[in-house]
Amino acid sequence: MNAQQRPTPLALVTGASSGIGYQYARLLAEKGYDLLLVSNEELRIAEVARELRRQFGVRADGLCRDLSLADAADSLFEYTRQQGFEVEVLVNNAGVFFFDDLTETDSRRIERMIGLHVQTVTMLCRYFGAAMKARGKGYILNMSSMSAGMPFPGISVYAATKSYLKQFSKAIHNELYDYGVRVTAVCPGAVATDLYNLSGHYQRLGLRLGILMRPERLARKGLRALFAGRRCVTPGAVNHLFMPLAALVPSRLIRLIKRRAKFYRYGR
Ligand SMILES: NC(=O)c1ccc[n+]([C@@H]2O[C@H](COP(=O)([O-])OP(=O)(O)OC[C@H]3O[C@@H](n4cnc5c(N)ncnc54)[C@H](OP(=O)(O)O)[C@@H]3O)[C@@H](O)[C@H]2O)c1
Repeated sequence: MNAQQRPTPLALVTGASSGIGYQYARLLAEKGYDLLLVSNEELRIAEVARELRRQFGVRADGLCRDLSLADAADSLFEYTRQQGFEVEVLVNNAGVFFFDDLTETDSRRIERMIGLHVQTVTMLCRYFGAAMKARGKGYILNMSSMSAGMPFPGISVYAATKSYLKQFSKAIHNELYDYGVRVTAVCPGAVATDLYNLSGHYQRLGLRLGILMRPERLARKGLRALFAGRRCVTPGAVNHLFMPLAALVPSRLIRLIKRRAKFYRYGR
């Protein structure tokens, strides 16, 4: 097949129904990519696909899948093979958040988070990474978080899974680089989305105070880093300052804050 006959390159974005994933999908459509959008909410993902098709004139399919399930990566990869899709860009963005002590958390909730952030992302990178390597071209963006360097109470599982994603991505970046495949870990600070169930009021306040970043800005920076072949990116100058400081907070102080903090038992 010559270059003119090649199909439009396809981007697969997980968690594209809202927040940062939705913005990744929009920006990739703007760049001319066809889209395969995945989330766990059928109507919403179909609606997003319809909207992007209409707005950018690209092919966009919405697929409802629970990516926390053990066979999610196998079944998604198989689906793309059956459809004849060649995934050039894989954005592993789907994620969940909860704040609680490990021993107070429902065990299924923990399993779902580990399944979604660790098992599925690892296997999607395995399958799509191999296909990209064989073609000599591809891009994989994995959403880690600044919390990867913050082993704090309440976010033990979240921070640990994001730390896994960061280290894993950095390692496979160098495994795949010489085969024309770029892998980037994106490690944002706080972004104004519904991930933490913050009300619109607090999201707007966070944006005004500069504590939160707009999801479209974050997505733009993430994709820029991906296409520039960067191994890891932490968008936002303040976050660069905050990250080394967070690692220095002594355990004694962390326990004191935990005992005093009113928010700690919020929502239980
Ligand atoms: N917001 C932040 O401050 C922040 C900071 C650092 C890192 N991150 C990371 O950025 C990523 C995107 O988060 P966001 O802030 O944009 O949150 P969001 O708006 O809540 O988006 C999360 C996305 O993941 C999807 N999802 C959740 N569980 C799923 C499952 N079991 N199967 C398939 N899809 C699932 C959701 O779709 P449905 O609900 O429709 O299934 C939604 O599209 C996450 O990995 C998060 O950890 C966010």
